[in-house]
Amino acid sequence: GLLTVKMRIGFEDTANFNRILELVNRYDIDLLSLHGRTVKELYRSNVHYDLIASAVEQVNCPVLANGNVVSATTATTVLNTTKAAGVMIGRAAIRNPWIFQQIRQHLSGQPISTVTLAEVRDYIERLRRMTTASTVPEPARVNQMKRYLNFIALGVDSAGAFLNDMRHAQTESELFGSCDRYLLSQPDQEFALEPYPGIVARPTCESASEPIAS
Ligand SMILES: Cc1cc2nc3c(=O)[nH]c(=O)nc-3n(C[C@H](O)[C@H](O)[C@H](O)COP(=O)(O)O)c2cc1C
Repeated sequence: GLLTVKMRIGFEDTANFNRILELVNRYDIDLLSLHGRTVKELYRSNVHYDLIASAVEQVNCPVLANGNVVSATTATTVLNTTKAAGVMIGRAAIRNPWIFQQIRQHLSGQPISTVTLAEVRDYIERLRRMTTASTVPEPARVNQMKRYLNFIALGVDSAGAFLNDMRHAQTESELFGSCDRYLLSQPDQEFALEPYPGIVARPTCESASEPIAS
C-alpha cells in the first residue's frame, strides 16, 4: 500500500519544518501534500510557496502544493514557482468544481472555458440532493447548504450581495429563493474564474490575503 502525508509547514512556526521533511524521507512516504501555512496562520496569511519549493527539492517523493490555488492561472503559477508534481485544491473545488477541467485546459494551452450562473444553480441543486437527507431537520439542512454557498457566492457577484442575502435565510424556501434571485435573474452571466476580491467566505478564519501574481 501507499503511505501519504498531508501537513502544514508547522504549528506555531516553521522551526521543525526541515526535521519533518527528513522524517518524510526516512519513512519512505509516497506522496506529500503540503499546505504552505502554519496552523497558527489559519487561512489568513499569504501561502509560503518558497517553503513548498524547498520541500520539493528536499524530499524523495512527489509533492502536491496546497493553499490558495483559486484558479487555473494560479495553479499554473504555483506549479511553475514551486516545481511541485501537482496541486491540491480545497476551497476552490467547492466554489468551482469546473476548476480541474479549467486547469487541464490552461496547462495544455487551450482557452479556459467558463460556466454560467445557470450552471452554478444546477450545481447547487445537485449539492442539495446529494447532501441533505429529508430526515435531517430543516435548520441543519439550511446550515449545511450555507457552508457550500459561502464559497460559491464568492464567484457570483463582486459586491457580495448574494453572500449577504443567502446568509439571512432561515428556511429552505428562503435559501433557494435567494439562489434563484441571484443566479437565475441573469442566467447567462459568467461565473467568475476567481473569487471576487474583498469578499470573505468564513470571517472567523479567513481574511482577504494578497492574491498571488498570475
Ligand atoms: C471544508 C473543509 C474541510 C477540510 N477538511 C480537511 C481535513 O479533513 N483534513 C485536512 O488535512 N485538511 C482539511 N482541510 C484543509 C484543506 O485540505 C486545505 O489544506 C486548505 O483548505 C488549504 O487549501 P485551499 O486554499 O485550496 O482551500 C479542509 C478544508 C476545508 C475548506
